[in-house]
Amino acid sequence: MVKVGIIGAGRIGKVHLESISYHVKNATVVAMADPFMNDETESFIKEFGVEKIYKDYKEIINDPEIDAVLVCSSTDTHAPISIEAIEAGKHVFCEKPLANTTDKIKEIAEALKAHPEVKFQVGFNRRFDHNFAAIRKAYDEGKIGDAQILKITSRDPQAPPVGYCAASIFLDMTIHDFDMACFLTNSDVEELYVYADALINPGIREYGDFDTAIISMKMANGALAVIDNSRQAMYGYDQRAELFGSKGMVATSNDTLSSAVLSTVDGVTGEKPLYFFLERYMESFSQEVREFCDAIINNTETPVGIHAGMQSVKIALAAEKSANEGRPVKLSEID
Ligand SMILES: NC(=O)c1ccc[n+]([C@@H]2O[C@H](COP(=O)([O-])OP(=O)(O)OC[C@H]3O[C@@H](n4cnc5c(N)ncnc54)[C@H](O)[C@@H]3O)[C@@H](O)[C@H]2O)c1
Repeated sequence: MVKVGIIGAGRIGKVHLESISYHVKNATVVAMADPFMNDETESFIKEFGVEKIYKDYKEIINDPEIDAVLVCSSTDTHAPISIEAIEAGKHVFCEKPLANTTDKIKEIAEALKAHPEVKFQVGFNRRFDHNFAAIRKAYDEGKIGDAQILKITSRDPQAPPVGYCAASIFLDMTIHDFDMACFLTNSDVEELYVYADALINPGIREYGDFDTAIISMKMANGALAVIDNSRQAMYGYDQRAELFGSKGMVATSNDTLSSAVLSTVDGVTGEKPLYFFLERYMESFSQEVREFCDAIINNTETPVGIHAGMQSVKIALAAEKSANEGRPVKLSEID
């Protein structure tokens, strides 16, 4: 049993607390920290039997009872907290994105080099989603042949308020799709080109950001990939992918509450997609932590390491550059 401390008690910190407590048998949460800890959050955490509740995350890092930390705090704190935890000998699971710059990720990589005993995993939960895992499995089994075209549709149900995002759409939202593109084709990205605009909330242009994007990518293994993103799909969370290759194609559709299709004189209707990431991806949040803890217990490699964390941020930075400069950008330009 891996004893875990969760750093950051916001939205995703609470998701992991609940997921581990109910669904992850090889881990137990023993502590949680957040500088804005208040009575409401504290009583929520206590419902899960967690007794060590702090404002200062250092209490977790210095606690000899704790084997591993989940870094679920705001993005700008991911790199410094991960490095402190690695140096204290704690295994680290860090939420996406690892950082907003490649320099900070290199610092994490340096700390890991100095502490080879530490297991490190990035929170790309979609790799553990049953649908996307099935695409990769079919590809690994050779059923698709050589990967030629990957299509990812990724649309949120509701746009965040203007000014919400500390990071761009590419670092905050598309980063999952960038990692998916690498995972599903089992390849890095070589070059990309982006068309992006603010079609839902023109006000976000003031922040230099976008809410709608089409990203075309040339993968290093020769496959071509396209991602379409929207911050607001009126019918719900639209999360689909299709991999086409020399021998065939594998495609997934959205998860729905039921597969019932109603046919009447007025038409044929089915369920909308599950509402958002908490509904669609809850099981994947449990599975990623199970596999992280398995890697600790069995002293094996974690399934999503620092390379994936670095690649996804490089791709996001290349996408920002392409959208702003209106030209194709090679990944080799980003360092
Ligand atoms: N994997 C996913 O699907 C997924 C989903 C949501 C968020 N995230 C990522 O998780 C991170 C947090 O997102 P969120 O939606 O939970 O945000 P949030 O704002 O709800 O929570 C962040 C929390 O971190 C706390 N915090 C800030 N500095 C801290 C520090 N030094 N020590 C401890 N806690 C600190 C804040 O007080 C806040 O409570 C982001 O990096 C985000 O990109 C990942």
